[in-house]
Amino acid sequence: MDNEKKNIKKFKGLVSRSEREQRNGHKAAVFWFTGLSGSGKSTIAHAVEKELFDNLMRVYVFDGDNVRHGLCADLSFAPTARTENIRRISEVAKLFVENSTICMCAFISPLRSDRQGARDIVGDADFYEIYITCPLEVCEERDVKGYYKMAREGKIKNYTGISAPYETPEKPDLIVETDRESLEESVEKVKKFILEKVEI
Ligand code: ADX
Repeated sequence: MDNEKKNIKKFKGLVSRSEREQRNGHKAAVFWFTGLSGSGKSTIAHAVEKELFDNLMRVYVFDGDNVRHGLCADLSFAPTARTENIRRISEVAKLFVENSTICMCAFISPLRSDRQGARDIVGDADFYEIYITCPLEVCEERDVKGYYKMAREGKIKNYTGISAPYETPEKPDLIVETDRESLEESVEKVKKFILEKVEI
């Protein structure tokens, strides 16, 4: 049953997104970081967030490890649950954009169809895909959380890159190669990209 039939209509508020953006002095959008666990998504997103925040910008990071403790605490890593994880975050990020916040969403989001789903929910004009790439061997060597080792030992099932697929982006808006760039270089590159896109 669609929402019209359920007697739910959208209410248009008295404050527009564009008025909010004018007050902030920048536009809002979703910057969707995708890549393997350990590739550097969260590290880069949080470092960029700090710099933009210090620059008096309205910015927020959504990150898999945090969201999965609350909003998505009920979801596993089975394919359908990952799809639902991405769908929920996309809907929340869309609301944040309406509230004129620059959103950085850092999720493995391994499937192209799920990332396309996120783009469809947020809207193409407000959505940029940032591919944080790093060879699996390097991510595995970093093994910041020790999960790759556990996945190799079969103690964690469906681990992306080991026992679950990662589909590389076909046409990302930005590529960041964390095995070739320093953290500072990657942060600078992402920050520059975001600043260009949110300029009024
Ligand atoms: S996603 O695939 O649904 O987009 P998400 O980004 O939310 O994943 O969560 C990934 C984080 O969960 C990883 O960085 C890792 O710390 C942890 N994790 C636990 N189990 C798995 C698993 N089976 N596959 C991938 N990541 C996992």
